[in-house]
Amino acid sequence: MYFSSRFLCFLGLVYVALAQSTNQAGYNPRIGPSNANCTRQNYQLEITSNNTVFQNVDNNANTTYITKLLQTFASLPMNFSQEYEQPTKQPLSRNYSISGTLCIPMNGQVKNTSHVQYLIHGIGFDSSYWDFAVNDTDEYSYISAAAAAGYSTFRYDTLGTGLSEHPNDTYNVVQASTDLAIATKLLNMLKEGEIGGQQFNKVIGVGHSYGSVQVQALSATVPHMLDAVLLQGFSMNATGLTSGAYSTATEVFPDRFNKSGFPSTYLTTLARQTQQLNFWFFPYYSDAAFDHNRKTEQPVTQGVLFTQMGLMQNATNFTGPVHVVTAANDWPFCFNDCYAVPESSTYNSIPEYVQELYPMTSNFSVYIPDNTGHAVNAHYSAPYVYQEMLEFVSNVFGA
Ligand SMILES: *[C@@H]1O[C@H](CO)[C@@H](O)[C@H](O)[C@H]1NC(C)=O
Ligand SMILES: *[C@@H]1O[C@H](CO)[C@@H](O)[C@H](O)[C@H]1NC(C)=O
Ligand SMILES: *[C@@H]1O[C@H](CO)[C@@H](O)[C@H](O)[C@H]1NC(C)=O
Ligand SMILES: *[C@@H]1O[C@H](CO)[C@@H](O)[C@H](O)[C@H]1NC(C)=O
Ligand SMILES: *[C@@H]1O[C@H](CO)[C@@H](O)[C@H](O)[C@H]1NC(C)=O
Ligand SMILES: *[C@@H]1O[C@H](CO)[C@@H](O)[C@H](O)[C@H]1NC(C)=O
Ligand SMILES: *[C@@H]1O[C@H](CO)[C@@H](O)[C@H](O)[C@H]1NC(C)=O
Ligand SMILES: *[C@@H]1O[C@H](CO)[C@@H](O)[C@H](O)[C@H]1NC(C)=O
Ligand SMILES: *[C@@H]1O[C@H](CO)[C@@H](O)[C@H](O)[C@H]1NC(C)=O
Ligand SMILES: *[C@@H]1O[C@H](CO)[C@@H](O)[C@H](O)[C@H]1NC(C)=O
Ligand SMILES: *[C@@H]1O[C@H](CO)[C@@H](O)[C@H](O)[C@H]1NC(C)=O
Ligand SMILES: *[C@@H]1O[C@H](CO)[C@@H](O)[C@H](O)[C@H]1NC(C)=O
Repeated sequence: MYFSSRFLCFLGLVYVALAQSTNQAGYNPRIGPSNANCTRQNYQLEITSNNTVFQNVDNNANTTYITKLLQTFASLPMNFSQEYEQPTKQPLSRNYSISGTLCIPMNGQVKNTSHVQYLIHGIGFDSSYWDFAVNDTDEYSYISAAAAAGYSTFRYDTLGTGLSEHPNDTYNVVQASTDLAIATKLLNMLKEGEIGGQQFNKVIGVGHSYGSVQVQALSATVPHMLDAVLLQGFSMNATGLTSGAYSTATEVFPDRFNKSGFPSTYLTTLARQTQQLNFWFFPYYSDAAFDHNRKTEQPVTQGVLFTQMGLMQNATNFTGPVHVVTAANDWPFCFNDCYAVPESSTYNSIPEYVQELYPMTSNFSVYIPDNTGHAVNAHYSAPYVYQEMLEFVSNVFGA
């Protein structure tokens, strides 16, 4: 047991070093903060998902065509479906290589070995969003804050990001249905003892942005598998979502993404300005945090951008507590003002509407940190926000 775990850890390190030397995708090679015992591993997952089938699309389209599709999608959704999507979904079976990292508080500080937070990152990041290591410090690391409080975490790079596989079909393969099926499979493996040799019998799903969309969908489709959900950077009002100015990753970051590995429809934010617009609220973050994000920014496929919101659904059977943490100045999910509800609304903020997806929840709560943009974990407020999040976590896991 001791040797096999150490061995896996060792393999993880070797894999990282090798990948880094090819300067491949610009992920952060760090496995975890100093107060957590982290093990990184590649999981080969056999997945069947019921996927949207696209037509009249091209994985290697030029930026003119990519933008044309976005324009139609954002303004004329019915036309978009007619022109670019087949009427019914089709099952797709395929194997995926996914990199996941389990972190357990160091030196026996774990409160309960069978409890875990299941962390799913959003668009533009890989799983290092949860261990956001500006200048290689632990200050912005949620993993570190969680470990200090005695809680274990499992995070993974979603398909097409970080050390996980990046398939070349960016519409029919790398899309939301596949992502949800992968998220379901890994959750099942946590419960079954197939990750870290430990059965986790209490799991809190924690997401950021598109990761929250997936956690929300899990609470609707497999409600019995999650004890609580914490949705960061999320609401049901995605007014600002399509303003992204996303462009071909191999053109924006030619040193990090090469054309043989990433077709043109793997996209990143075009420039620092567009990244700022979507993810940041100036001046409440450091230049170092912004630079770190830009250096490690990860791509998203156009297929994911078009299918992500289709996952959101009524979690009619979910009875656990739900906590939404969305920054006051979140752009994609609040359009820079989370209090901008219609005058007639019975709610005080946009994130409060999320309770309409949870008719059976035992407790619904919202936290709106001030002076913070969409990339919550990267702003100055992160350490304080983490304490609030961990209070919720502690209430769920019990003393
Ligand atoms: C981009 O692709 C479209 C569709 O294939 C084509 O009509 C157009 O001429 C191309 N534009 C450029 C600049 O290559
Ligand atoms: C959208 O679809 C409608 C109905 O099919 C059609 O009349 C209209 O011209 C389309 N609009 C565009 C911009 O393609
Ligand atoms: C896939 O989705 C379609 C709807 O688009 C549905 O009719 C079909 O039953 C689903 N198939 C499976 C295997 O779930
Ligand atoms: C997945 O990989 C396993 C082992 O290599 C193989 O037996 C199986 O056929 C693969 N499944 C699919 C759907 O390709
Ligand atoms: C780290 O985890 C391994 C494997 O579970 C364990 O043997 C080791 O004692 C842990 N180290 C520390 C410092 O907690
Ligand atoms: C850990 O939590 C489980 C419930 O999830 C409980 O049954 C068990 O007693 C706890 N273990 C310890 C050591 O507190
Ligand atoms: C991070 O490193 C940069 C460059 O090495 C330095 O200018 C900056 O002050 C550091 N920031 C923090 C928060 O340590
Ligand atoms: C895409 O990847 C598949 C394997 O996943 C391979 O069979 C196919 O040749 C690739 N297509 C292109 C255009 O590279
Ligand atoms: C929700 O509960 C109802 C009634 O028990 C059941 O029929 C349905 O399958 C459940 N849905 C899910 C997604 O578990
Ligand atoms: C480009 O990516 C491919 C596929 O991931 C890899 O095999 C190749 O070595 C990379 N080439 C360069 C120059 O980095
Ligand atoms: C959705 O967000 C927009 C932009 O902030 C706002 O004007 C509108 O009132 C919001 N709608 C609801 C139902 O919250
Ligand atoms: C979710 O389902 C409940 C119970 O069926 C219903 O009252 C509620 O209006 C639904 N919410 C949405 C947003 O559809």
